[in-house]
Amino acid sequence: MNNDLINQIRSKVDIVDIIGERIPLVSKGKNFFGVCPFHDDTNPSMSVSREKQIYTCFSCHATGNVFNFLMDYEHMDFKEVLKYLGDRVGIDTGSVHVSKKNTKFDKFYDVYNFALKYYQNNLNSNIGINAKNYLLKRKIDEKIIKEFEIGLSLETRDDLTKLLTSKNYDLVTLNRIGLSSDDHDIYNDRIMFPLYDVSGKVVGFSGRRYDDIKDNKYVNTKETDIFKKGEMLYHFHIAKDECRVKKSVIVMEGFMDVIRASTIGIKNTVALMGTAMTHDQINLLKRLSKNIILCLDGDEAGVKAALANGELLLNEGIEVKVVALPNPDDPDSYILNNGKDRFVGLIENALNFSDFKIQKLKEKVNFSSDEEKADYINKVIEETSKLDDEIRREVVLKRLAKEFDIGYNTLEMRMNRLLKNKEKKEVIIIPKKKVPKKDKYEKAFEQIIYFMLNNDWIITQVEKEKLIFPTEVMRSMCNEIIYYYKNNGNINIADFYTYLNGKESLIAFLNSILAEKYMETTDKEELFRYFKVVREYSTNEEIKRLTNLMKKEVDPIEQAKIVEKIRKLRLGE
Ligand code: UTP
Ligand code: MN
Repeated sequence: MNNDLINQIRSKVDIVDIIGERIPLVSKGKNFFGVCPFHDDTNPSMSVSREKQIYTCFSCHATGNVFNFLMDYEHMDFKEVLKYLGDRVGIDTGSVHVSKKNTKFDKFYDVYNFALKYYQNNLNSNIGINAKNYLLKRKIDEKIIKEFEIGLSLETRDDLTKLLTSKNYDLVTLNRIGLSSDDHDIYNDRIMFPLYDVSGKVVGFSGRRYDDIKDNKYVNTKETDIFKKGEMLYHFHIAKDECRVKKSVIVMEGFMDVIRASTIGIKNTVALMGTAMTHDQINLLKRLSKNIILCLDGDEAGVKAALANGELLLNEGIEVKVVALPNPDDPDSYILNNGKDRFVGLIENALNFSDFKIQKLKEKVNFSSDEEKADYINKVIEETSKLDDEIRREVVLKRLAKEFDIGYNTLEMRMNRLLKNKEKKEVIIIPKKKVPKKDKYEKAFEQIIYFMLNNDWIITQVEKEKLIFPTEVMRSMCNEIIYYYKNNGNINIADFYTYLNGKESLIAFLNSILAEKYMETTDKEELFRYFKVVREYSTNEEIKRLTNLMKKEVDPIEQAKIVEKIRKLRLGE
């Protein structure tokens, strides 16, 4: 890998700009602070240093340089980030060869890519004519088939399994990744829709029968190491750029809905794929946009899902919007029957979730019963009290007062009581995380490593003193810092990250050191106090080693020499 070019690109961008374009940063002292996007938070726990060109979250310990940030935030791989930043600063990255990191799942991805090509080939050959006609009849044309890489599995029992084993993929792997069961194929005669992970890699399939029998309509790949339904959103990798432009994300139930919306140029969409919304999916949604629009099916199940998911999002502080499609439409059928303009109109006029909820409450009420009426009014007030916007609260109450001819003050009083209770509930004490206690030596050594990363001369000092570091990872880190320093003539944390690429345990250690609040000091006395502690440890370790050596030594003269060494060490000579 060409680290010079990588460092050149890194030094031409400012991490504060790159992160600031994605999350709001506020400058405070030497650093910038923002809400960390890598864990659930509303506090600005992430600091970004212009001087060091790194970011650090004090809460979840996410740390790194601009490459690490973009890889994690945008779900790009290293090469994509390099190209993106290279383009930005006008450096051609075409010639850079980035050695691909081997992951233990590479084989899985390979098999899926192979299967993908195989399925596509089937659909486009004579054997796929009926499936193709089914798709064309549903107005899924050649262009969409290609774009969404749609394919076909064959009626034969084991065509794919045989083909893959002949390519030296073993049955154990094929079973483990859900393409085969024993020695036969899982998918027989289904239209195959590839499923992608957040970075756009194929990690599974959904196979649809095309005979209009409703049972078992779709069969999905089972959960595997790389395919977890609750951790993905269909179309995320395409939506991520589009959502930035459109400033919203539209959530649908099925991938057919997403595919249909794409045909009319609406691509800021993702599909839940029939699951109840999970916490991981909510986090992914938040990263696409703060403006979330639920556009689920118009049937009863869809309304129920919209109510449940809207509530979940509301609890996370996101006020979502809801498009209520007429029953029994789904986005797919609605777009086919009513066209682009009307669908866009629905999206633009999406209801606030609370209004949607009130509307749904109302549909169930029997207004000739005073009891049900009162119950309804109370529920509306309760819903309204959840709104953060006091003007909107007032608007709802005024409407309610007029509609049911009730005094506004009565309604307001009830609302205020609810608001008071809410305030009480919101005082939450966050328990402090328990971290394993480090002894004074470990702390001092970590502090020394922190100093080494920030002051060149301390590196030289550590090398001269031949300190003995207490753990393997500390020893490796110390060696890497010294090696890096000798090769580069200085130490730059942001580039040091690039240099450590692939050494996961060292990166994790570096992250923890940078995220814990070690102090930055040039106060010599302070420094010497730390050196004193680590020297003491190193001396004790050396004495231990020599004592063991002495016990094993049989030659009395050699023994005496060792004793003398130990004595000198004890005296601090
Ligand atoms: P839908 O039943 O709404 O599918 O299920 P759809 O998008 O309308 O599909 P078509 O138009 O009939 O072809 C929504 C999602 O739920 C999952 C699928 O991921 C689908 O996209 N699902 C549905 C299954 O996993 N299995 C099923 O049998 C049905
Ligand atoms: Mn449908």
